[in-house]
Amino acid sequence: MGKDTKVEALTASQAAAELKRLAAEISHHDKAYHGEDEPEIPDSEYDALRRRNDEIEAAFPELVVEDSPSKRVGAAPSEKFGKVRHAVSMLSLGNAFTASDVHEFVARIRRFLKLPDDELVEITAEPKIDGLSISLRYENGKLVQAATRGDGQEGENVTRNVETISDVPHRVNAADFPEVFEVRGEIYMSHEDFSRLNQAQDDVNGKVFANPRNAAAGSLRQLDSSITAARPLRFFAYAWGQVERLPGETQRGVLDALCRWGFPVNPLTRLCTSVDQLLAHYQSIEQQRATLGYDIDGVVYKVNRLDWQERLGFVSRSPRWAVAHKFAAEQATTVLEGIDIQVGRTGALTPVARLKPVTVGGVVVSNATLHNEDEIVRKDIRIGDTVTIQRAGDVIPQVLGHLPDKRPVDAVEYKFPTTCPACGSHAVREVNEKTGKVDAVRRCTGGLICPAQRVERLKHFVSRNAFDIEGMGDKVIQEFYDDGLIQSPQDIFTLQLRDQRSLKKLRDREGWGGTSASNLFAAIDERRKIGLDRFIYSLGIRHVGETTGRTLARSYGTANQFLDAMAAAQDHASEAYADLVNIDGIGDVVARAVAEFFAEPHNLAVVKELVGDHLDVQALEAVDSGSPVSGMTIVFTGALERMTRDEAKAMAERLGAKVAGSVSKKTDLVVAGPGAGSKLKKATELGVEVISEDDWFVRVEA
Ligand code: IVH
Repeated sequence: MGKDTKVEALTASQAAAELKRLAAEISHHDKAYHGEDEPEIPDSEYDALRRRNDEIEAAFPELVVEDSPSKRVGAAPSEKFGKVRHAVSMLSLGNAFTASDVHEFVARIRRFLKLPDDELVEITAEPKIDGLSISLRYENGKLVQAATRGDGQEGENVTRNVETISDVPHRVNAADFPEVFEVRGEIYMSHEDFSRLNQAQDDVNGKVFANPRNAAAGSLRQLDSSITAARPLRFFAYAWGQVERLPGETQRGVLDALCRWGFPVNPLTRLCTSVDQLLAHYQSIEQQRATLGYDIDGVVYKVNRLDWQERLGFVSRSPRWAVAHKFAAEQATTVLEGIDIQVGRTGALTPVARLKPVTVGGVVVSNATLHNEDEIVRKDIRIGDTVTIQRAGDVIPQVLGHLPDKRPVDAVEYKFPTTCPACGSHAVREVNEKTGKVDAVRRCTGGLICPAQRVERLKHFVSRNAFDIEGMGDKVIQEFYDDGLIQSPQDIFTLQLRDQRSLKKLRDREGWGGTSASNLFAAIDERRKIGLDRFIYSLGIRHVGETTGRTLARSYGTANQFLDAMAAAQDHASEAYADLVNIDGIGDVVARAVAEFFAEPHNLAVVKELVGDHLDVQALEAVDSGSPVSGMTIVFTGALERMTRDEAKAMAERLGAKVAGSVSKKTDLVVAGPGAGSKLKKATELGVEVISEDDWFVRVEA
């Protein structure tokens, strides 16, 4: 028996075994989706599991168990938040996938209500927002509680977090707003906000979300509401829970009231009077899907008359009076002919499936993403396999999996490269400092020389907080890069010389003239003198922002000392590497990234050429080399009472000392305040001099 066996062909014991397997699988995915905000399979695959479960249950009703997935919604609330019991359960929706499912939905309503043929059934149609549902309880016009759906009966109390969402009114002052009213709807994140958030998360090496829904869920379920406040969440109202009184007799009427009371209601909501109208509106919404700016995954139809909704009631986990008409995930199968590696502008290596061209939803597809190295292994995809691909909305098609029965004997396992195909540099997977997990993405380390990353790196190199070359913005860099004038940072500094020898002068280019050309050369010359901190920052080393640039510059003093140390730090067992990791504010991730950057001979060559031939890299502003602690490596530990840690560090650095985060043989002095523990112990063991904070001030005569 396989999971593709027709339901009619199953024996009762096979059906029982498969239901058990499906229950376990669905509950696993429920947990991943609702509990951890991190789904492992696309929604369409999840829906297929549920559909299969429902079909088997329909054929073998005696096998339906009390805790069947068909009777459950979502996952039990997490322990993190207080629990809230919903006064009216928060249910889910049944799905329709085809036009005939929609006809059947309406026919069933007619049958159930025994409506005469000439009686019109009004039905609202509105987008199904792909976010997470929330119930907002208002008492006397004031928002008193916000709860997630949880398992439908009991959700999580996320009131503090929801209060930070500007779409959600804190107070409703309308005279006709009932004393008790629970507004229900969806919290979501727009595409624009989602990509901005991910960009920012990536910059600080934080969690990058797979899609806006996960980002919204992850942001809402933060224990610290100030984090939620900083995440741009939005809200659409579309339903209600416990209410003292309803402001209308129809779905549309209540939505209008919600709108009047200040709740956002989706503008694409329509009242329809026939299946044809529903389907036409469905199509129109589907056409607008890519440009809405937020994710939707279908259209929800609801019977308009509330008295009819009441009579229709519910069947297990969903109402009879509503259905979700899901967008077809456009899928097809084809042969995987090869795998190419694409290098993104941040150096990420993405495996791209080269496919035998196939039409998916009216579009010919010959490439699809395989996401990353681990996905290829997890899905056990080999070259020669027949694979299922999916095109959803306007996103890049993706490979979902392979068909095991169609695997040819000579299918080849793919070996993911460990060097960058664009430049040959090492490509590495980082370890996330917080989670200890290896990053899913392999990245090229050849930042300065990799053609796939060059332009972006060059733009960073000249940007405001780096070299800040006036008149040389993104557009100019792009133009010069495209014309082969500037390929690498050194080229910026030879531009004038090459221009003098060239027949095609800068001043003769379109949009340029004598003045702008000589201004640019002057601006470049002005920046030949640069602080070591800016210089380090400008190299665009992963995880090295301005602060880290400054920290490194402070710790190493001159460009040559820095370069020598980095050359020595290639060996992770070396003292040079230990020194690097030990610098306060550096840590393993940054140290690794810096060492990897300089391990790449091409990068080192560029940096040496810049420092040796073109620049005058300056040590950080005057440090007091005559001070009693100059040249020492100092560790501050325990509670300091006369200054903060940052002040202590800045002061020591000003006095020419290096501040380290941990005690080693190289430590010269430990300043220990009350409560000092293991560092003090280590210092005593190693015989390192230990002084108090007061002694410190005496010693430096401050
Ligand atoms: S009505 C009792 N309307 O879809 C019916 N749900 O798959 C309550 N959803 O739990 C739901 N957009 O989280 C409704 N316009 C919409 C919706 C919507 C998204 C979500 C909601 C619900 C899930 C059901």
